[in-house]
Amino acid sequence: MNRVQVSLQERSYDVLIGSNILPELNCLVQDVLSASQFFFVLDTNVEATHGEIAMDSFACKTDHYALEAVESNKIADTIDSIWSSMLNQGCDRGTVVISIGGGLTGDVGGFAAATYLRGVPLIQVPTTLLAMVDASVGGKTGINLPTKRPDGTTILGKNLAGSFWQPRLVVADVSALQTLDDRQLRCGLAECVKHAMLGHPEVISFIQENHDGIFNRDEEVLIELVTQSVAIKAEVVAKDEREAGSRALLNLGHTFAHAIEPMKELGLFHGEAVSIGLCAACSCSEALGMIDADFVDQIRVLLVSIGLPTRLPMPIQLEDAMGLMQKDKKVIDSCNRLVLPSKDGAMIVDDVDKNAILLAWASVGVTSS
Ligand code: GLY
Repeated sequence: MNRVQVSLQERSYDVLIGSNILPELNCLVQDVLSASQFFFVLDTNVEATHGEIAMDSFACKTDHYALEAVESNKIADTIDSIWSSMLNQGCDRGTVVISIGGGLTGDVGGFAAATYLRGVPLIQVPTTLLAMVDASVGGKTGINLPTKRPDGTTILGKNLAGSFWQPRLVVADVSALQTLDDRQLRCGLAECVKHAMLGHPEVISFIQENHDGIFNRDEEVLIELVTQSVAIKAEVVAKDEREAGSRALLNLGHTFAHAIEPMKELGLFHGEAVSIGLCAACSCSEALGMIDADFVDQIRVLLVSIGLPTRLPMPIQLEDAMGLMQKDKKVIDSCNRLVLPSKDGAMIVDDVDKNAILLAWASVGVTSS
């Protein structure tokens, strides 16, 4: 089993990465904290499988709330239901919330833990690659809020309410990836590519060289992939826990992705939107002379080899994309702040030239009328 520490003084914690470790969850948790009551927030997809294995490892009282992990459930009403369920089960400030599932379940369970009785301890047990390498690490929790599109229709804006609430432990059992479908695996790989683009060409090579091992679910390869990616994220988070500055580097590709992900007509999963967002960010950087065309090609070829999209599945209007981009909370006021790839990693760039942004959108299939 590998161990990566997220170093945050008194809020430091370990990310444990291993194979077939879920049946020992109780012991792994007891090593870190003791509690008399545990409350599980579970993705309904894993309730009868990983959820049951994890809950069965506990001898003491456990209760749970299962949620269907879709964006339309990542809302305030769901948090309200979890709070009520915890109250009805007599959860107190010593109760530990254990969130088991993908990134959406972790964000929702984490936000409920952050706010119930002003905060109770949280353990993250990610069961998707995306949640293992990204969502479960770093303490971001949150829900979506309804927001208006330029045409007046309402959509859910991603993660517009939330809090920083670090888990006490993250347990990533790569055996859970055996049953994860390929589309979800590819989505997790988009975040691994993003981490690699923060100045870690060795991780790009690892992904290129281990394509078959990853898709054949070779658990040694998966442990190494998750460990490398989590180590990159842990280092960034340790330097800037609350995203006052450099943590924003983790948003590489995401300002573009957050504009297209809520568009139901595109039918994109988060990792797919991130993949297109990474391509747009590369084009933007190239237009600004920050990277050369060879680097852009290398990233596109890698994403294509993984089976991720590098262009929109259908054209969308520039006005729509730009409107939602400005609503992304990472675009500070309207100073066009973007995270862009550079020769040595990535950079936060203010006042990005609007023409470069327009070129970036055009490069992934956005049209202007
Ligand atoms: N997923 C970006 C972050 O955790 O900051």
